[in-house]
Amino acid sequence: MNSYKIALYPGDGIGVDVTEAAEEVIRAVEKLDGGFSLDVTRYDWGVDYHAQRGEVAPSDLLAILQPFDAIFLGAVGFPEKLPDHVTLEPLIKIRQAFDLYACVRPARTFPGVPSLLASDKTIDMVVVRENSEGEYVNQGGRFRIGRKEETATQTALHTRAGVERILRFGFDLARKRRGKLTMITKSNAQKFSFVMWDEILEEMAGEFSDVATDKQHVDAAAMNFVRRPESFDVVVASNLFGDILSDLSGAITGSLGLNPSANLDPSRRFPSLFEPVHGSAPDIAGKGIANPVAAILSAASMLEWLGEDRAAESVRTATERALANGESTPDVGGSLSTLEATRAIVKRLEE
Ligand code: NAI
Ligand code: MG
Repeated sequence: MNSYKIALYPGDGIGVDVTEAAEEVIRAVEKLDGGFSLDVTRYDWGVDYHAQRGEVAPSDLLAILQPFDAIFLGAVGFPEKLPDHVTLEPLIKIRQAFDLYACVRPARTFPGVPSLLASDKTIDMVVVRENSEGEYVNQGGRFRIGRKEETATQTALHTRAGVERILRFGFDLARKRRGKLTMITKSNAQKFSFVMWDEILEEMAGEFSDVATDKQHVDAAAMNFVRRPESFDVVVASNLFGDILSDLSGAITGSLGLNPSANLDPSRRFPSLFEPVHGSAPDIAGKGIANPVAAILSAASMLEWLGEDRAAESVRTATERALANGESTPDVGGSLSTLEATRAIVKRLEE
């Protein structure tokens, strides 16, 4: 029997609630499937850990996490208690050190869940966000801090190898889906980095002539996500643009509480990390109403990545059935708590 070592990093705010929900579901599917076992270790890092120990996570967190088969993260951040750039540092460190360069964020409409858009179009897209470089590298500094002439620089870093590998990932994914790739840049205004993206896309398009390619500037893409979201299949974007557009893709399908995310190292040298797209939602933390679906679908992606396709599929089907039947949390029009919505999905699994 296959056995997998999973590290749980629930984090802060609703991250804790939705991680517990995801754990309940994967435990249920482990039992029902009978073909694999999960060895789960939980790490309570985050703002409370920081209050006790002066750091968000132990300094050797990479060494702690490396032996695992996968990492599951809830969400991190609680700006009232600790500045976000401090709380988010371990997460960014994991993504970069483990070279989790492909951040895969599917967004789709579900029967039973109203879209935030006035139309009832079917949306089924995947935002593939470059996750290892771009706008989120630590390059820059502040000069003459606090003075009137204070200066800050923050430099993005785009490498040919980095752009090629994320486009290749997007092309491969498009081949398995509807065969369409849209690359998002801002090459009309950022003439070094994004013109290089444009050139690389053109060079690679011949190799993937069965995939239809399209380029959009990020401002136009934001408009088109709202105006004609059904036209997108695979969307490839830089770290920052992918981050922004994946929140938008989530919102238009009904709620950010539905959207899973996988941070993948396709070479499988390091453990990949699975987490919902959403953050720790301090506005609803402690209320017990966080939608667990994004985390549960992230857990399904994790099972699929580990090779447990049958288990992943049954989690997805159970989730769809529960949503279609209105067994959901208030953000998508239901009236269940996080725990009740989770139990409803577990019940559907058992059917
Ligand atoms: P957020 O994603 O936490 O929340 C945005 C809005 O969506 C809020 O109104 C929230 O209530 C709602 N929402 C989010 N997830 C939901 C769910 N599962 N069910 C129902 N409603 C949900 O983004 P926000 O407010 O900008 O950030 C809050 C904190 O999370 C900050 O500290 C931020 O830095 C952090 N953050 C962490 C991320 C991560 O851990 N990967 C990603 C994004 C934000
Ligand atoms: Mg984000």
